[in-house]
Amino acid sequence: MTLAHLPMVVAAARPEAADIVAIDLAHPAGRPLPPAPAGAHIRVRVGEGPVRQYSLTNAPDDRDAYRIAVKLEPASRGGSAAMHRLAPGDMVGASLPVDGFPVDWTKGPLLLIAGGIGVTPLIGMARHAVARGHPFQLHHFARSACAAAFAGLAGEPGFAGRATAHFGLDPDAVPGRLAAIFAAARGAGVDAYVCGPTAFMDAARAAGAPVLGAGALHFEYFTADAVTGDADGDIRVRLGLSDREFLVPAGRSILAVLQENGIDVDCSCLEGVCGMCATEVLAGEPDHRDHFLSDQARAAGDVMTICVSRARGGALTLAL
Ligand code: FES
Repeated sequence: MTLAHLPMVVAAARPEAADIVAIDLAHPAGRPLPPAPAGAHIRVRVGEGPVRQYSLTNAPDDRDAYRIAVKLEPASRGGSAAMHRLAPGDMVGASLPVDGFPVDWTKGPLLLIAGGIGVTPLIGMARHAVARGHPFQLHHFARSACAAAFAGLAGEPGFAGRATAHFGLDPDAVPGRLAAIFAAARGAGVDAYVCGPTAFMDAARAAGAPVLGAGALHFEYFTADAVTGDADGDIRVRLGLSDREFLVPAGRSILAVLQENGIDVDCSCLEGVCGMCATEVLAGEPDHRDHFLSDQARAAGDVMTICVSRARGGALTLAL
């Protein structure tokens, strides 16, 4: 692990919604923090636990703390559960902001569409838009008002008439509602930014691409689908630069097997989201399972994220 993590203090930790806690992380000496661009995230580590990335909700001039929200994942491997145990005064390691979901401010109005906890980066974008006087509309989907983080957004200064809640919809009604939102934005020159669970993003892509064009749609995946399934086979992984070979059994990641054998590979999310473990492929065909690589990079097949992706044909040679 080569990430630079700075010590930061928990300035506040408060329930934000069912299973969601809002956490403010501050400089231990109370100094102002480096500004974060809209859509940025930080990487956070509690103790020796896994590193996780969390989107910032900060406005541009809000530099007292980095403000994040964390949903407790039922299958947490320690990341979200440890975050939920934090209390004011606790110390964590955190990176500086990473510009992971940038906004193109040269374009037209922002159409911000959030599913569940995916609202966090979009709140940051909306707050930046307010500060810039840039037009936006924020649509927030959640199972219910109780399950929705930041459910009172419409009351925030600058948000009146620009934040719409879609809470408690029947799941079957979501695609239709998304279609209506995109139809209403037709011809307005908007760029849409979408964050939420994978199925929600897929529905937004299906509804938005025919209206706005794929180039005007921007997505951030905050978690990945299951890494492997029973149907995955073993992979024979050869390290082309060090002439070693390993068998990666079904159900285990390439990264885990390499690390277990003392091979140092940078990593962070372990979910195919951050791109830290992207590795050059010298031979073999990757079976991409990540949400980091572009369609172009996938098609080229010369780089893969080894924390989640596997191999078609059962063999790979990596530039390690
Ligand atoms: S560690 Fe984040 S994509 Fe692999």
